Amino acid sequence: MVIMSFGHCNVKLSVTPCRGLVDEKLVILVQSTLPGARLTLRAFHRCDDGHEWEAFAHYLTNATGCLDISEEPSLGGTYYGVEPMGLLWSIRPVLGSKPGLRMRKMNVETPMEFTISVYQDHLTEFKEKAVLASQLVERWYMAPGVLRTPIMEHGLTATLFLPSGPGPFPAILDLWGGGGQLVEYRASLLASHGFASLALDYITPKISVETGKPVDNTYFENAFTFLQQHPRVMGERVAMLGLSFGVSFTLKMAAYSHVLKPKCAVCISGSHVQPTEGTMADILSYFDRNGHKAQLNDKNEVIMRNLLLPIPADPAYKVDMGRVKCPLLLVMGEDDQNWPACESAADMKEMMERAGNLHLLTILSYPNAGHLLEPPYSPHTRVSSFRSVGTREKVTALWGGECAAHAVAQEDAWKKTLEFLRHNLYA
Ligand SMILES: *[C@@H]1O[C@H](CO)[C@@H](O)[C@H](O)[C@H]1NC(C)=O
Repeated sequence: MVIMSFGHCNVKLSVTPCRGLVDEKLVILVQSTLPGARLTLRAFHRCDDGHEWEAFAHYLTNATGCLDISEEPSLGGTYYGVEPMGLLWSIRPVLGSKPGLRMRKMNVETPMEFTISVYQDHLTEFKEKAVLASQLVERWYMAPGVLRTPIMEHGLTATLFLPSGPGPFPAILDLWGGGGQLVEYRASLLASHGFASLALDYITPKISVETGKPVDNTYFENAFTFLQQHPRVMGERVAMLGLSFGVSFTLKMAAYSHVLKPKCAVCISGSHVQPTEGTMADILSYFDRNGHKAQLNDKNEVIMRNLLLPIPADPAYKVDMGRVKCPLLLVMGEDDQNWPACESAADMKEMMERAGNLHLLTILSYPNAGHLLEPPYSPHTRVSSFRSVGTREKVTALWGGECAAHAVAQEDAWKKTLEFLRHNLYA
């Protein structure tokens, strides 16, 4: 609690918990101002790569001079209405930042720090403005006791996160999309919720350095087997979770692998469309041929779309969904501008209905949400710079989604994803 003098009255700001997980809700209260006072609340964050982000909202204090942002509406700013977590999910690069930024935590062993401040009056510009009260909030992906271990065995480029405690734990193999790199924040958050999680980079590593040939099915199978055989993992309870390009391999493995048999699978913003007999190189060149890329949008920005539409009728270009024998959760945004997740889901559902395994399928579909469905309260990124997986050219990718609706989707989808994983891995 911070108290600062503001004319003849004191302003107290309380933000709790001041240290917590990124998916925990904050309670933000302002007390002891005058009734009906015009206040601005602002959140400020400097991310790992030094870029500055902010959100702000205009409020009026109530008849007793208090403000509880879970009860009072924002009257303006980066979000409107009663939004207890708006100061986090509506955060965006400060004015004048380089375009195309996307906030991604690189070092999960340090927290994200947000400064929440109160200002007098309804402001939109904060330089040199007097702060009435402010508080620093730490948001973590890694809960206390979670163990992080880089993994290089079996040629893997991966990081294992183990929950606190002796285990054994159910486990999750976590695949991001075509951007590559070892991205750890989601796996570390899953470990904070009781799942041993392996973040796997399957884009950067190559089978052979000389040919630059991408990894094959064995790579995913090795990662899965590594998890299964880990002494602190329940070998029979290993799931797969993929986003975007990661969905292609999650579905391919679940349907065809004799080694990698997930207990359940979560597929976010992805598709079953791919040459099913193909190597990763074949899949990439199929996407390159069939995607519609490098168009200009209405703001004259070059955008990357990889809409594999229409969904092919030829079964050689679709994972045979009848072969999927584990519970499957599909999560998608209905304004996904990058990947035909909704069209694919409709087709997958039809295939599963015909094959008689529809009972394994759960679909979560969110209006006005985009492609990049992240853990809750992560900022919405509609457009960002992206190095395309196949050609490695730098493009501006259009992901889609509308900020507030996307935030609703992220919060609901994460809650239901954890429920699905608990139900299928712990029950
Ligand atoms: C003003 O808000 C505070 C904090 O939520 C609450 O305790 C109080 O009852 C409210 N007062 C009125 C008059 O609504």
